[in-house]
Amino acid sequence: MAYVSKVAVVGAGAVGTAIAYAAQIRGACRELALFDLNAAKVRAEVLDLNHGMQFTPMARITGSDDLAVCADADVIVITAGAKQDPGQTRLDLAAANVDMCRDLVPALVALAPEALLLVVTNPVDVVTYAALKFSGLPAHRVFGSGTVLDSSRLRFLIAEHTRVAVQNVHAYIAGEHGDSEVPLWSTATIGGVPVKDWTGNGVRALDEEVMAQIHHQVVSSAYEIIAGKGATNLAIGLAVSRILEAVLSDEHRVLPVTSRLDDVHGISDVCLSMPSVVGRTGVESVLATPLSDSEMAQLTASAEAVSAVARSLGL
Ligand code: 2OP
Repeated sequence: MAYVSKVAVVGAGAVGTAIAYAAQIRGACRELALFDLNAAKVRAEVLDLNHGMQFTPMARITGSDDLAVCADADVIVITAGAKQDPGQTRLDLAAANVDMCRDLVPALVALAPEALLLVVTNPVDVVTYAALKFSGLPAHRVFGSGTVLDSSRLRFLIAEHTRVAVQNVHAYIAGEHGDSEVPLWSTATIGGVPVKDWTGNGVRALDEEVMAQIHHQVVSSAYEIIAGKGATNLAIGLAVSRILEAVLSDEHRVLPVTSRLDDVHGISDVCLSMPSVVGRTGVESVLATPLSDSEMAQLTASAEAVSAVARSLGL
């Protein structure tokens, strides 16, 4: 029988459904299974996705309120859990969402022993660390969407400011997917020109003030979207589909996913995002991108913030 890549998405809420939709449209996988405890909701979402199949690459999309629908998946995407209400930070969700993983993750591993686990549930760094622990899997097989979305927000804002296509901007956010995240300005480039040397047309320069504004906008993006529409879902859907494509096509693509660091710039035993090479086996390597002194200090502080939450939950 021909190999058919299967993705299982746990949680058919705004995020899980947007991931399924993005993966369908982009042809990320040939089989997609959606799980949700709400049988009527998951059935409705699967019908809605299937009714668009004529217009997308071919895929088989199924769904159920029985976790067995995830059996033998190549990648399991975890989106279930409590979500941020206006005014809450991602870290406020840690206790509830870590607790949810205690039974869920071992059950998923039993159903799909070969799967990679891709965590999206927030706070994604803490939940990824918990999922790794509860799964018993090697660290490279359990990772999270991390700052892939934040980096995309950063690139978009730099592109808008400089009036250069977003595809020609290379810049990463590292650290926590949350308030302590760190823009890596020292290695950011626009068409090969380091951001710090970018003068644009003299009017669109990226000075310290603009960089600070852009950083602030990236950090506050999710709060703004949650205040306006209750959740962020469309961009994270595309970001996660992109990660799935890197895995299933074994692309060895550099993406700032979150995974357990092992002496990266001296940081160990905490899940954080750094630019990482992603392929069929999961996180192939984490890049110790050169950092300025200020970036190093911010990254250390971010690691401490995430570790403190993990430790407070006994992880
Ligand atoms: C986001 O950054 C809320 O983590 C979600 O869009």
